[in-house]
Amino acid sequence: MPKAVALLVAAGSGERLGASRPKAFVALAGRPMLEWSVAALRGAGLDEIVVALPEGEDAPAGCIGVPGGSARSASVRAALTAAGEGEWVVVHDAARPLVSAELFRSALAALVGADCAVAAAPMIDTVKEAGPDHRVVGTLDRSRLWAIQTPQAFRRSVLERALDVSDDVLAAATDDAWLVERAGGSVVVVPSTPANFKVTTPHDLRVAELLLSERAVVRAERE
Ligand code: CTP
Ligand code: MG
Repeated sequence: MPKAVALLVAAGSGERLGASRPKAFVALAGRPMLEWSVAALRGAGLDEIVVALPEGEDAPAGCIGVPGGSARSASVRAALTAAGEGEWVVVHDAARPLVSAELFRSALAALVGADCAVAAAPMIDTVKEAGPDHRVVGTLDRSRLWAIQTPQAFRRSVLERALDVSDDVLAAATDDAWLVERAGGSVVVVPSTPANFKVTTPHDLRVAELLLSERAVVRAERE
C-alpha cells in the first residue's frame, strides 16, 4: 500500500456542545478528546498526523499543527497543504473519539478500488422526506441508505482537485467525499457501526465518557 498521511480536523468551536473550550480539547476519559483519535491513528501505523487547530490551542506531541479554516472542508484544505509526502490521505473528525485503528485500516484498504472510501453505518431508522409544513412526501428505501462518518480516505491527487473550489462550495460541503462526488470521482462506503458516533451534544459527551472510561480500564488491566 502507498504511504498515507492523516489529517485530523479539530478546529471547530463546538457550539452545540457549549463547553468552555473548543470541543476537540474538552477532557474525555482522562485525555483531551482529540488524543483518542491520535492514538487510534498511531495504532493503525499512521504516524504523520496534521491537525487543524482552533485559535489558542496546540497540536498534540508529535503532530503537525496548522490554523483551521472557517468551514470544516477549509480546515481539511489547510491541513493537506501542510502534509508531507504520501499518495493516500485519510481525513478524520476529532469529534469522533471512538474510532478504532481497524476502521482506519479498512478505509485505506478500500482505496485500492476507488478514489475515495468513507466509513458509514447502515441506517437504523426509517427515513422520510417531509415539507416545511411537516407533510410527508415520501419514504426512502432504507436498505440503500448509509449514515456517513469519518474516517474518509482519498487518493491525494483526487482530494487536492476536489478541494480546489470556491470558498462557497467548501462551506456547503458537510463531508469531503461530496466534493469528490461532484468532481466525478468514485466513492465507496466502508461498513462501520453507530459506535463511531460524532460527539455533538452534552448527551453524546456523557455516552463517549462512559464508553472510553471502559476502554481505559481494559487497557490498564492489560498493562
Ligand atoms: N471542524 C474544523 N474546522 C471548522 C469546523 C469544524 O476543523 N471550521 C472540525 C471539528 O473540530 C470537528 C469536525 O470538524 O472535529 C466535525 O465538525 P462538528 O462536529 O460540527 O464540530 P464543531 O463545528 O466544533 O461543532 P458545532 O458545529 O456544534 O460548533
Ligand atoms: Mg460544526
